[in-house]
Amino acid sequence: MKRWYLDNAATTPLAPEVREAMLPWLDAGNPSSLYREGRAAKAAIDEARERVAERVGCLFAEVIFTSGGTEAANFAIIGAALANENPQRRRILISAAEHHCTLETAAVLTRLGYQVEITPVDRLGRVLIDQIAFDDDVLLIAAMHANNELGTFNDVGEIGRRARESGALYFCDAVQTFMKHPVSLYALGADLIAVSGHKIHGPKGIGALIVRAGTKPKPLINGGGQEREMRGGTENVAAIVGLGEAVRREPKPGRVASREAFLSEVPAVRTVPADAPSLAGHAHVRIPGKTAETALIRLDRAGISASSGAACSSGSTEPSHVMLAAGFSVAEAREGLRFTLPTEMTETEARDAGRAVAAALG
Ligand SMILES: Cc1ncc(COP(=O)(O)O)c(C=O)c1O
Repeated sequence: MKRWYLDNAATTPLAPEVREAMLPWLDAGNPSSLYREGRAAKAAIDEARERVAERVGCLFAEVIFTSGGTEAANFAIIGAALANENPQRRRILISAAEHHCTLETAAVLTRLGYQVEITPVDRLGRVLIDQIAFDDDVLLIAAMHANNELGTFNDVGEIGRRARESGALYFCDAVQTFMKHPVSLYALGADLIAVSGHKIHGPKGIGALIVRAGTKPKPLINGGGQEREMRGGTENVAAIVGLGEAVRREPKPGRVASREAFLSEVPAVRTVPADAPSLAGHAHVRIPGKTAETALIRLDRAGISASSGAACSSGSTEPSHVMLAAGFSVAEAREGLRFTLPTEMTETEARDAGRAVAAALG
């Protein structure tokens, strides 16, 4: 049976050249050692850092490697809260459609004495900027670049502009857009940007937080002063090299025409209209009357991997928090299905995949 892997927003296959580049570094020296093996490992890390910086459009020293997007988000938000010395800035704003790795920091922030406000989103999961009070008591706002479930974009330029005007920090989770959409630290106006390796054909367990010069979140992982004293612990050299190799690949936005060809075959209600700007590879739908759980079991049996979009852990039967925030009912939020196509998928392949989905669900 042909398998269709249509869950590329969850993770992507490791690129062969990334695997090749990583292998010699599985047995790397300690990058902090001053002798030859250590210096070689340090040089490999710095080369990867240079490449990530080039892709993001930031400075070399602004790239701090982390264990992935989740750690980058935690580090950005909690690190900024810990570093804050201004007693006036006690509010932290988090968009209701953020990834769990951002939303779940709220409990820690509350314990640190911050007032966390979950800001509303529209029917497509986008931050309703005009409903946010960007006052001078806001320490930080978290609003992602593109939503991982629906694929829709926030107006990050405007969020960044308003954050800057009010003196607040802006954390932007760019995990879903990195290498699919131009991510420039300065164009976004973000102070802190999260990216991840395994969404771009790199390895899992590696990512980075881009920390704009002048911003200094307190480390969450304290240790030997690695990563400019912002993230302790001996570096995962092979994974960092893998991320560096993954960003050497050509950025690929995906094909809107392929998504449309796919959707034209799938008997379901689309969540995001064709004319709303969204990631080209994201096709989010609902099948009224059928829960995502039921649909996903049928799809898997037919050789199709997709997701409910509700959680990275596809075992989750919780209704999608993004759809609930966007105003869908609990029943509707249990029906959300996310297909994320490979960037190189042709229209013909997409149509075939759509037919396979239709046959599985029919
Ligand atoms: C938008 C978004 N942010 C963060 C993450 C977490 O990244 P990682 O898996 O590298 O921890 C994901 C992964 O699902 C994501 O889609």
